[in-house]
Amino acid sequence: MTQHPYNPGRLLFGGDYNPEQWSKDVWAKDIALMRRAAVNTVSLGIFSWALLEPREGEYDVEWLDGIIAMLHEAGIGFFLATPTASPPPWFTRAHPDAMPVRADGTTLTHGSRDTYAVSSPAYREASQRIARFLAERYGAHPGLRGWHVHNEYGTIDYGPHAADAFRRWLRSKYETLDELNAAWTTAFWSQSYGEWEDILPPRDTQYLHNPAHVVDFKRFNSDEMLAAFTEQKAAIVASGSTAPITTNFMLPTWNHLEQWSWSEAQDVVSIDHYLDDPGIDGDTHVAYCGDLTRSWAGGPWLLMEQNAIGIRVGDRTYVKGPDQTIRNSLGYIARGSQSSLFFQWRASAGGSELWHGALVPHAGESSRAFETVVELGSILESISEVVEPPTDGRPVEADVAILWDAEGWWATDTPHLPNDALSYSDEVRATHRSLWRAGISVDFVRAGDDLSRYRLMIIPSMFALSEADAAWATSYVRSGGQLVVQFFSGIADMNQRVITGGYPGMLRELLGVRTEEIRPLPDGESLELDKGFHSEMWSERVQLEGASSLVDYRAGALSGLPAITRNDVGMGAATYLSTRLTQLSRDRYYAQLCADLGIDPVVSDAAPLGVEAVRRRGAAADYLFLLHHGSDSVTVSGEGVDLVTGSNAAGLTLDPGDVAVIRESSRKWMLVKENSASA
Ligand code: GLA
Repeated sequence: MTQHPYNPGRLLFGGDYNPEQWSKDVWAKDIALMRRAAVNTVSLGIFSWALLEPREGEYDVEWLDGIIAMLHEAGIGFFLATPTASPPPWFTRAHPDAMPVRADGTTLTHGSRDTYAVSSPAYREASQRIARFLAERYGAHPGLRGWHVHNEYGTIDYGPHAADAFRRWLRSKYETLDELNAAWTTAFWSQSYGEWEDILPPRDTQYLHNPAHVVDFKRFNSDEMLAAFTEQKAAIVASGSTAPITTNFMLPTWNHLEQWSWSEAQDVVSIDHYLDDPGIDGDTHVAYCGDLTRSWAGGPWLLMEQNAIGIRVGDRTYVKGPDQTIRNSLGYIARGSQSSLFFQWRASAGGSELWHGALVPHAGESSRAFETVVELGSILESISEVVEPPTDGRPVEADVAILWDAEGWWATDTPHLPNDALSYSDEVRATHRSLWRAGISVDFVRAGDDLSRYRLMIIPSMFALSEADAAWATSYVRSGGQLVVQFFSGIADMNQRVITGGYPGMLRELLGVRTEEIRPLPDGESLELDKGFHSEMWSERVQLEGASSLVDYRAGALSGLPAITRNDVGMGAATYLSTRLTQLSRDRYYAQLCADLGIDPVVSDAAPLGVEAVRRRGAAADYLFLLHHGSDSVTVSGEGVDLVTGSNAAGLTLDPGDVAVIRESSRKWMLVKENSASA
């Protein structure tokens, strides 16, 4: 059932729960601990296919019935997963052709999870069958909070089923091989296709792939997995279940799905987010995840998993302390999450992820980790009124928009660019980080969206753009918008065919510039620009064609030539950053630009003190979230009530690591470093 804006009635707290790994006496203990911590939601059955259907068509639900009854009696709701991310061993034996094949031709075998070829008819049929079975049995259960279809779609198959399905997708996109050959520039390296059967997934080959082939395969995979999701969704709906249906996206590394179309297909958008930095950049990434997911969802959303206790970076797991656990949880909620859910409730004693942190760690409930869980549960109960969304469904207001485009990510990921160090995801994140550091709220937008509410729009390095995208950006500027385009955007069309005659072909007229030469920099080298800015990685020889230069290169071969330009168009302006500003320069650039445009931080003196300030709009009030990442105590003055402590917000002290969620009576806030307040 589509619910807009999504409102579960209370903030959901809990996480993945795998009772099947434990004996029944542990279940009873778990439920008692959940109640102690005010856990109200668990996700069940995510990888339980082999237990639920031990032999084809034979079901064993005694254990699931049992735990659901116990949870329900304790007032704990549940998301029920369809377990299709982990087909059972009997399925592998019966359908060896349904195993995924890697790009190098290796067929994977059972023994982990996600061993399926998504285009295999047997897999698709078995998935719908188990989804239908579960929906018929549990779809009307009063404790059911929603359907968690599959888990983190993203297993890519290069085998024969994928080849067949890819060809069908290509036929429907291009209709004729002539069209496909032209779009893919197959004249290069003797790749012209004379028969559809000659087209394969981009399996390992001798040297470079054709980038148009690679990006179409990405598009195909996103559509193919979406079809698999939609079939399961249809099976659930057909059973009569009206519980909201979602599937969990994944950040930061997953780039297999076109999130805008996927978000439209779900009743509520959910995501799993794993920090990739144990330091302050982890906190900026929480904000990035929150802003992205809220934007995809177009309103409130669900944090389906986050890491408990541990932060896995590279080959080790760092400890996530109590303060950070609480701050991060509130960081997502500040940005519209209706939940704080974790992977997982109880740390596994065995199995592949036995060293993954959990709300109940191996040490048990007598632990700092579990005390934190109890504290978090109590905070979430105190602030639960924030769950009521505003009538327009927009939990956060922003004046700045960043274009998000999965296809842009895929295009920029293709190899052999002028500088392969360029990463779309890094560019988006670095830009978002600058705005986060300036305390400015950000939305992400999709090409074609209504931009009338935004005063600034940023196109991060977006190699491929369509003519429609360029026209959309132009009309935004003409009607008064301020646009910033970062280097290497609009160079090519959606098939990675360069617009010749000077870069960036798609946006040349709008930007009033012509780049004739891209000049990458060696790693570690930086360039000096005017006004004290520095840049790295990328530079361009830019000629002005109507724009004026705001900042010139100061050194090297480009000295005295334009680095940052501005073109007044209609009632707005289009700015071009032809080089990659270092993070510090980028921070300064965007902070100054926002100040010039009158785009204010949520609370002007918060960010310099290390306090993240986010305003979450609610049905009856607005809530100011203050998350203290800094190192000095801060005194707050303003009118409102801090829901965390229940005290008046005026005179509230935030020590490093503290959080406050203030029901605002006015929007005037001042934050002062404590010793300077008393000085
Ligand atoms: C993902 C999965 C979980 C678990 C965690 C931790 O988000 O959804 O099942 O594997 O990662 O690794």
